[in-house]
Amino acid sequence: MFIEKFKVESPNVKYTEDEIHSVYNYDTTELVHENKNGSYQWTVKPKTVQYEFKTDIHVPKLGVMLVGWGGNNGSTLTGGVIANREGISWATKDKVQQANYFGSLTQASSIRVGSFNGEEIYAPFKSLLPMVNPDDIVFGGWDISDMNLADAMARAKVFDIDLQKQLRPYMESMVPLPGIYDSDFIAANQGSRANNVIKGTKKEQVQQIIEDIREFKEKNKVDKVVVLWTANTERYSNIVVGLNDTMENLLAAVEKDESEISPSTLYALACIYENIPFINGSPQNTFVPGLVDLAIKRNSLIGGDDFKSGQTKMKSVLVDFLVGAGIKPTSIVSYNHLGNNDGMNLSAPQTFRSKEISKSNVVDDMVSSNGILYEPGEHPDHVVVIKYVPYVGDSKRAMDEYTSEIFMGGKNTIALHNTCEDSLLAAPIILDLVLLAELSTRIQLKGEAEGKFHSFHPVATILSYLTKAPLVPPGTPVVNALSKQRAMLENILRACVGLAPENNMILEYK
Ligand code: NAI
Repeated sequence: MFIEKFKVESPNVKYTEDEIHSVYNYDTTELVHENKNGSYQWTVKPKTVQYEFKTDIHVPKLGVMLVGWGGNNGSTLTGGVIANREGISWATKDKVQQANYFGSLTQASSIRVGSFNGEEIYAPFKSLLPMVNPDDIVFGGWDISDMNLADAMARAKVFDIDLQKQLRPYMESMVPLPGIYDSDFIAANQGSRANNVIKGTKKEQVQQIIEDIREFKEKNKVDKVVVLWTANTERYSNIVVGLNDTMENLLAAVEKDESEISPSTLYALACIYENIPFINGSPQNTFVPGLVDLAIKRNSLIGGDDFKSGQTKMKSVLVDFLVGAGIKPTSIVSYNHLGNNDGMNLSAPQTFRSKEISKSNVVDDMVSSNGILYEPGEHPDHVVVIKYVPYVGDSKRAMDEYTSEIFMGGKNTIALHNTCEDSLLAAPIILDLVLLAELSTRIQLKGEAEGKFHSFHPVATILSYLTKAPLVPPGTPVVNALSKQRAMLENILRACVGLAPENNMILEYK
């Protein structure tokens, strides 16, 4: 059965006019590795740590500024939200289609709240905590191409034509602000698009982004802004001692107008100065060590990298399933071909390399979790190929072959073929990223040994379900397995309203 909303009644949870306050017992373990009678031994001690969570329930009016607003993802997300807000429906050759938010974890998935009269009861994911309604988001942003959003939507060729016609009047007047362009960081084939760029030194460019954000906030009367990079994939920046390795060096390098600082790092820098959450949806290393350092010092949310929309999402499910079933994946080969502008940009070796890196580490945590299947340091062969094929446009093809060793030396090969409009997968993920980033800035927590409440760590691991190469604070384990990432997010939000983690034990019926 499905219910729309619920309220938690518990001595551990208090709802006030401003916040939800919950006291939560976190059941965890403490590991001890010690020498007992000449041999080392592991001991696991269960322990419970008490946490308190405070969630501000005032949902702000939210502005979202996209870097690369006029791209396929930017125009698809903007049009999709307008279509939902305006209740637009359109004729396809199959049926009359209504606007929806399918593919969004927050808007279109559910959580289990319990059992009632022998039935499992589910509620919308978004009913867990007060969240911004995506229909109310005000969009804006930058693009190095000055095309208005209606024309950009037509250029993207993602939406059905009847929908495009209905959206056009809403989107014609939306024109991206000039962006920071550096031809050294994206493919040379993007040069002809770059007719809308901010001039000046790197320091002046950062200052311009800051002014843009302030003006957008003021003009649209929004309470909060989140900025998200959905512009072209850049090449990796070289990490150079003295240049971008520490906060001080990075800031000095900007002052000196050093060339090895990417546009994405400059946008992020502006956001950190303004204490505006910045999320990177592409694979490049925007978050150079000096920038992470600065975000931590200024407690400003950063998250990324690279939307986890298709092939990698399947991988982080399939390999988790195989390794969890005691089957040993030994070769994973992934081909992609796509014909959108992102595909064209990725046809340059240096930008492809960023994507290859971001896609490559995705099975590491699953492999290292099973020492029965894999020797220390052993890893399946893992190859990723991406080709630009203009004819298929945004309709990306992903083909994967997984070969595994099974019982008694047998081999198993699974082949997948996935065809899908790339931007229709990415747009709802962008939505979740900005909604969850905003929500997480309204949550404060306090462990029993801590004197006062604090926000989550500024490096937002809570968003990792949505990204291919989750950015984590230095010294923190990276979790790629999709089910674990989803459980982490859901269980933290449950803790904020005093609900136990979903443990799937269903002891009531045992
Ligand atoms: P796109 O090429 O259609 O859009 C990118 C836009 O960014 C273009 O309009 C371009 O003019 C603009 N741009 C480039 N550099 C800029 C800068 N420095 N400042 C401002 N604007 C700039 O690409 P699409 O398909 O929208 O993808 C965007 C990004 O998202 C790509 O990096 C892609 O790799 C990443 N991504 C997309 C996924 C998907 O499923 N669509 C999945 C994972 C990542």
